[in-house]
Amino acid sequence: MKIVNDLDLKKQAKDLGTSVWKTPSFLFIVMGAIIIVAMTATYYIARYDQPEILVGAESLVVAILFIIGNSVIGKVEEMAKLNKLKTEFVSVASHQLRTPLSAIRWETELLLSKLNCGLNDKQCKSLNNINILANRMTRLVNDLLDVTRIDQGRLVLKKEKVDVLEQVKGVLDNLAPLANDKKISIVLSKRGRVLTATGDGEKIKLVIENLLSNAIKYTHARGKIEMKLYKSGGFLVFSIRDNGVGIPQNQHKQVFDKFFRSDNIVKYQTEGTGLGLYISKNIIEQSGGRIWFQSRENTGSVFNFSLPAVSH
Ligand SMILES: Nc1ncnc2c1ncn2[C@@H]1O[C@H](COP(=O)(O)OP(=O)(O)OP(=O)(O)O)[C@@H](O)[C@H]1O
Ligand SMILES: [Mg+2]
Repeated sequence: MKIVNDLDLKKQAKDLGTSVWKTPSFLFIVMGAIIIVAMTATYYIARYDQPEILVGAESLVVAILFIIGNSVIGKVEEMAKLNKLKTEFVSVASHQLRTPLSAIRWETELLLSKLNCGLNDKQCKSLNNINILANRMTRLVNDLLDVTRIDQGRLVLKKEKVDVLEQVKGVLDNLAPLANDKKISIVLSKRGRVLTATGDGEKIKLVIENLLSNAIKYTHARGKIEMKLYKSGGFLVFSIRDNGVGIPQNQHKQVFDKFFRSDNIVKYQTEGTGLGLYISKNIIEQSGGRIWFQSRENTGSVFNFSLPAVSH
């Protein structure tokens, strides 16, 4: 099985960590220095009108630059290869984890459904916890799989007619318990009767799920969330506003980066990997839409996405 390669990968990563990452930039500095020295030397040699020396010196400089350039390209290729290996490893490991995780979920759900047949409260609570953790791990594994698909350019999206209003309502039903626990109020308003878009239903649901779960996670107890759905110039727009912790201004540029988590939330909200918005952006943009936000620390955030609307 390919997972064995992990050890090789770690070793390669360690080796490359000390050689590859540092060497190309060092070589670029050397190249720059050679060019400066060569130009200065050429200037002085040219003054004495000795073409043989001039040609010889130029050839030498070109040869040195050629050797260094080749070495830089070699190192960059090595880095690209390692990156590819890493992506493949994550993909294989995630696939391998999915099967046992599904089995754990099925088994616990089966046992939970048979509560009346002899399980006491304590056993029931333990099973519930196992089920919650297995679900969380499944989400992480699915996120990692989506990320590797995106990175390898293999994310395939269906093009179907999606009733986004129904999707939003479905997600709201699923996440309402989380909001209720924190006594957060959620309002959904819509403009228009039929609110459908073109895209991949399952993936659009994932985007809505992430935006709503973010709004809940990053809003204090008794906060307020407002969701809007409307059509605008051939697009269907979904917008979600919260009065939560917001994102520091100096980190706005990184919000859609892989593994980004803002400084202000890391200290008290530990759950989360920083993959949700990276995946969401890729899904929305690949579907022909756009995703954007405004946010102010300690005031709140508004996240929006648009998708091509279905014309009736
Ligand atoms: N509504 C929001 N309010 C405040 N900060 C937010 C909000 N939405 C996103 N963020 C910030 O952006 C970061 C990235 O969000 P993202 O959804 O990608 O990751 P996550 O929620 O940390 O983890 P997960 O991968 O489980 O979604 C968050 O960690 C948080 O710092
Ligand atoms: Mg998230």
